[in-house]
Amino acid sequence: MSGRVLNVLAALPEADWQSWRPALERAFAAAGLKVRLGGREMAPGAVDYILYTPTGWLADFSPYTRARAVLSLWAGVERIIGNKSLTQKLTRMVDPGLREGMREWVAGHVLRAHLGMDRDICRTDARWAPHVPPLARDRQVTLLGLGALGTAAAEALVALGFQVTGWSRRPKEIAGVTCLAGADGLAQALARAEILVLLLPLTPETENILNADTLAHLPPGAVVLNPGRGALIDDAALLAALDSGRLAHATLDVFREEPLPATHPFWAHPRVTVTPHIASATRPETAAEVVAENIRRAEAGEALLYLVDRAAGY
Ligand code: NDP
Ligand code: OXD
Repeated sequence: MSGRVLNVLAALPEADWQSWRPALERAFAAAGLKVRLGGREMAPGAVDYILYTPTGWLADFSPYTRARAVLSLWAGVERIIGNKSLTQKLTRMVDPGLREGMREWVAGHVLRAHLGMDRDICRTDARWAPHVPPLARDRQVTLLGLGALGTAAAEALVALGFQVTGWSRRPKEIAGVTCLAGADGLAQALARAEILVLLLPLTPETENILNADTLAHLPPGAVVLNPGRGALIDDAALLAALDSGRLAHATLDVFREEPLPATHPFWAHPRVTVTPHIASATRPETAAEVVAENIRRAEAGEALLYLVDRAAGY
């Protein structure tokens, strides 16, 4: 590996610098990389690598003629993948912090729905009305999406004893999970989903995947959890299914428009819980090591980790 100083542009919002800079500096040093880390002031023609988040300021990649790769600090790349000025290699974030956060959000909200915590278990009405909770082994949970995050969540649910089904584009094998794929697989996966978790990326194929037709496959009284992306769901169809009582509840972390507008019906709906896009977050401590490892690989002429498949859209 050369001892050359690399110019790494961190195109992050100002507020994120404080947490990212020390984590990145530590990770670059540990990987044996000499790096000049900079922001907007860095001359575009001198930049070797770009760290990108959709909350940052960078939209036009064309001046970065020397940049060898754009490393997204987010897992989801739907807001950058169609950017015509981005001709460099593009990687997305897969890291232990994201996995752990998502595993905990999914396990927590699946248990909440499974045990009827909002309704049956935790009483605030001064009524002693014992409700024996069901067992996980009697509950079917389906995950749409069995990637880095879907698999981590599925494994946690298996460990808790749930009957877990997962659906992905290509066939998979995950211990304890009934893995399905393809259009027939989707219908089967939905038909058994007492609790449905959406962990798909947003692509032209997955947009509105939960719509009036697919919602009709769910068992009556099903619960939907969406930590994936808002546009996976046809909002009007979801609201109609909740209003009719066909769906018992939806817990939504992601929305077509974020922040979710104050007037949006999801906020006040008695069968909807909103969490403000916090299901999981890229944590600098763990993610900086992934960034450094990928730059080390690029400099060593090795294949990059987590390259985005532009044809597939994720
Ligand atoms: P991955 O790319 O690792 O996994 C995506 C999964 O979706 C794969 O199993 C893939 O199938 C499957 N998939 C993609 N397209 C289709 C399709 N057309 N039909 C069936 N299955 C499909 O992504 P991650 O697990 O890392 O992340 C998933 C999403 O989670 C992100 O794209 C992002 O939108 C969201 N996210 C949300 C966060 C939050 O805080 N709310 C935080 C981080 C991510 P295959 O395995 O065959 O490729
Ligand atoms: C991501 C997210 O995609 O936080 O990383 O939503």
